[in-house]
Amino acid sequence: MKYSSFILAGIVIFSTVLAGSAQWRNMVPRRGNVQQTAVRTVENVQEKAAAVKQDVKSVAASVTKTAETKNKVKAAEETETEFPGTNDQWKDSLSVDWIAKEAESHKVPPHFNNRSVLRGDQHDGHAYGRYTEADLRLWESETVRLVMEGSRIFHDAELLGSTNGVSCDMCHPDGANTHPETYPKYQVQLGRAALLRDMMNWCLQNPCRAEPMSGDDPRMRAMEAYLNATSSGKPMKYGKH
Ligand code: HEC
Repeated sequence: MKYSSFILAGIVIFSTVLAGSAQWRNMVPRRGNVQQTAVRTVENVQEKAAAVKQDVKSVAASVTKTAETKNKVKAAEETETEFPGTNDQWKDSLSVDWIAKEAESHKVPPHFNNRSVLRGDQHDGHAYGRYTEADLRLWESETVRLVMEGSRIFHDAELLGSTNGVSCDMCHPDGANTHPETYPKYQVQLGRAALLRDMMNWCLQNPCRAEPMSGDDPRMRAMEAYLNATSSGKPMKYGKH
C-alpha cells in the first residue's frame, strides 16, 4: 500500500512534469510559427502589391505605346494618301540588278524623299518649270547609282587598286568611322587641313598600298558620294575631331 501510493504519486508528478514540459516545448515553436507566418503573410502581400503595381505600370506603358503606334500608322497612311507611292521610292531606284544587290549587302541610309516638290504651286516662279514624277525618278536613280557605285568600290580591293588585297571595309565596315561630316579638318598625319578625299587617299596609300586617286577620278567621286550618303542625317561639323 505504501509502495503503491508512492508509485502513484511518482507517476502523477512525472506525468505533470512531462505534460508541462511538453506544453512548454510546444508553446515556443507555436509562438514562433505565428510570428513567422505573420511576417511571411506581410511579405507576400507586399510582393503582390509590387507585382500589381508593375502590372499597372506595364499596362499603362502598353496603352501609351499602342496610342503612339496608332498615331504613327495614321501619319504614315496620311502621307501615303497625300503622296501616293511614298514608300516605293527605294524600290524604284533599285530596279537595276547590281544596284539592288549592292544595297542589299551594304546598308546605306535611304536618300531624301523629294515627293513634296510635286505638291502645290512649285511651278510658279521656278527656274526649271514644273517637276514631274519622271524627274523625281531620274534624280533618285542617278543619285542612288552614284552612291552604290561608291559602295562597290569601297568594298572591292581590286577596284581600289590595292596591292595587298585590303579594301576599305576591312577597317570601316559599311563606311563606319569615316566621319565625312567633320571635313575639312586638320589631320595630324598630313600636317594640314584636309578634305575628305585627302584622308581617303591617305588610307589608299597606307593601309591599302594603292595609288592615290585624283579628285576627279570617277572612283574617288563615287566613294565620296558613298561616304557622304552613309552619314546622312548627321549635322555637318567641320573641324571636329
Ligand atoms: C587597315 C585599316 C584601314 C583601312 C583598310 C582603311 N582605313 Fe581609313 N582609317 C583607318 C584609321 C586607323 C583611320 C584613323 C586615322 C586618324 O584619324 O588618325 C582612318 C581614317 C579614315 C578617314 C578619316 C576618318 C575621320 O574620322 O576623320 C577616312 C575618310 C577613311 N579612313 C577612308 C578610308 C577609305 C576610303 C579606305 C579605303 C581606300 C580606308 N579608309 C581604308 C584605317 C583604315
